[in-house]
Amino acid sequence: VCSTHISQLPTEVLLRLFRYLGPEDLCRCGQVSSAWSNLSKTGSLWRHLYPVRWARGDYYHGPPADLNQEPDEEWVKSLQVEGKAYQEWDEDADVDESDESCEESLAISAAQREKELLNGMIQNLLPAVGSSVRSIVLAYSSTVSSKMVRQILSLCPNLIHLDLTQTDVTDSAFDSWSSLGACHSLEYLDLSGCEKISDHTLRKLSLGLGDLASPTCSEKRAERRNKRLKSPPSPISLFAEQFVGPKVKIYKERLARLGAAPCSPAHLWVLDASKLADIEDAAEGNQRGVFSATEGLGFVETQAAGDLCCCTRSRKRALRTGFRTSYWQQQYGFGEALCGHSTCCTGEKALRTLGGPQCESINTRVHTGAEFRTKCSSEGQWCLERDNRTVQSNTPRSLRFLSLSGCYQVTDMGLRGLSQLGGLPLLEHLNLSGCLLITEVGLQVLVSACPALNDEHFYYCDNINGPHADTASGCQNLQCGFRACCRSGE
Ligand code: FES
Repeated sequence: VCSTHISQLPTEVLLRLFRYLGPEDLCRCGQVSSAWSNLSKTGSLWRHLYPVRWARGDYYHGPPADLNQEPDEEWVKSLQVEGKAYQEWDEDADVDESDESCEESLAISAAQREKELLNGMIQNLLPAVGSSVRSIVLAYSSTVSSKMVRQILSLCPNLIHLDLTQTDVTDSAFDSWSSLGACHSLEYLDLSGCEKISDHTLRKLSLGLGDLASPTCSEKRAERRNKRLKSPPSPISLFAEQFVGPKVKIYKERLARLGAAPCSPAHLWVLDASKLADIEDAAEGNQRGVFSATEGLGFVETQAAGDLCCCTRSRKRALRTGFRTSYWQQQYGFGEALCGHSTCCTGEKALRTLGGPQCESINTRVHTGAEFRTKCSSEGQWCLERDNRTVQSNTPRSLRFLSLSGCYQVTDMGLRGLSQLGGLPLLEHLNLSGCLLITEVGLQVLVSACPALNDEHFYYCDNINGPHADTASGCQNLQCGFRACCRSGE
């Protein structure tokens, strides 16, 4: 009987198996060997992080949309008790621990576990997988600090969902959003009950969401790239004679002897990789170091021989030009070989990015809610991306949900800041309950920059006669005992 030890399984198979595991099991697997440790730090395994739940034995790791948004009241209460016990213990650490009741010590150890988990995540996990992380839920955490949040946000630039409900964070937590487009992909931000948050955070948020008025560098680059791909193939750049190496000269002489000379400059198709920096195949070529003068000459020969692109060159020629061509041909057969050059492969078959032979070769990126998936062309299935490359939403200022409930320091200045740089065109849900210092004027400015706002999900103080007064929902904090409200106690 032939048996295979698990260590002999190919990496792709192991990764597929790892996808069935939760965070606890993945951490255990990471302790088996260095190979497993590396594999367990694959970005696609860590899309959604719930450290507060994980510290209490709930290892849910799916998208937040599949989770009940309203947490169980009992659960919230127990977290609040834990937080209080932990803070008291933390402030007065020299108290004789033997005096603590059993219940209190359990609460303290749960909070300590949470803090250790957060520190471990920041130091060991996020540096490896941060750019793949899409959601972080830290709601009701009693141990998360502004410094921790700042570190997390700078390690996770592609966040879509951030929940900091009822935490003790301050404005400094969002320092990494102080540059344009720093939280470009953010769609969901819950700061309910974060009482230390002020207008500074809203200004940073607005800046981080990007500027709709002037296109960002990445948009400009994408625009240039699209323009190039749409334009008919034409020589991109000619090497000036003084830059052509001796090998190229020898090949040119040989071509001349074969009758293809004189090569008119218009037929020279030597790609200058530096000018293709924004075309992915060139970037990939650069990474692999395969854009050599010889390969460039392969291009020259093909064109000179009759305007055929390198996709269709002969097997003999393909073998001569080395790894790159033979790789494509191994993958896709000789008859249908694709070179992968955006400039000569058009339509569906053009290869865009190369992530690995088994899955990512021909891919289509689709954004479904809070999840990015890559179509696996070889198997016709959807599978999660396995690499750790940076992915960003195409639309800046894609915020759809914003809750500042109980953030009583926020003023009209903050709302004005949010309305700048193009407003919030996709915002549907806005909760400003308990924002005691805002006025009708500030609300009006913001609402005029939020065309998608749904009145049913628009909450603000009942005492303000603001926009959509008849249809908007009122203050949500009237019945809430622990969030700011001008009518609390009535
Ligand atoms: Fe005014 Fe709640 S903040 S009614």
